[in-house]
Amino acid sequence: MKFFVDTAEIDAIAELNDLGMVDGVTTNPSLIKKSGRDIIEVTKAICDLVDGPVSAEVTATDADTMIKEGRKLVEIAENIAVKVPLTWDGLKACKVLSDDGHMVNVTLCFSANQALLAAKAGATFISPFIGRLDDINLDGMELIEDIRTIYDNYGFETQILAASIRTVNHILDSARIGADVITAPPAVIKSMVHHPLTDKGLDAFLADIKAADIKIL
Ligand code: G3P
Repeated sequence: MKFFVDTAEIDAIAELNDLGMVDGVTTNPSLIKKSGRDIIEVTKAICDLVDGPVSAEVTATDADTMIKEGRKLVEIAENIAVKVPLTWDGLKACKVLSDDGHMVNVTLCFSANQALLAAKAGATFISPFIGRLDDINLDGMELIEDIRTIYDNYGFETQILAASIRTVNHILDSARIGADVITAPPAVIKSMVHHPLTDKGLDAFLADIKAADIKIL
């Protein structure tokens, strides 16, 4: 499973990238706003750092302007994936941009039927939002399972990019189901390392190291 980092914070991307844990990056208007930087400038900085797909989202809502914006975004770097919303106009833009040979990430997906349309429009990635479904007491993971089943039934090559990941369990469940990619905030990815028994075990080892004065260097 590929790990994308869901942020526009360069330092956080660089830290995970140095560990080989960044297969791509996703941004959205809210993350660009949070970074306080210009979209073109910060997206270029991310692309300079990361080899994998970097999603940059259009701002328009009509297909023609989305296509123009997408064509400008792909000039930033070869690894740009144009992110478009899952609307009828977004699907039109997806079809044109993917036919042009560009990667397209169709975002704000909340149903399997939407995911089916995105695949038929040639999306490279479909982004179902798990956390936001959980927020309204629906089952985000059930959506990932449904999309996996449907895409496998018909051999769609669109990659399932599980998004709006809030917890380590979202990542584990996505991996179990077979999502192709997860995108998560750096803090959620880093928190995967924690286990209380690891901390407890290390404390015991450290106590014995001190008691026995064990030294290597
Ligand atoms: O990748 C989409 C993601 O940024 C949305 O996450 O937590 O705002 O629902 P969230």
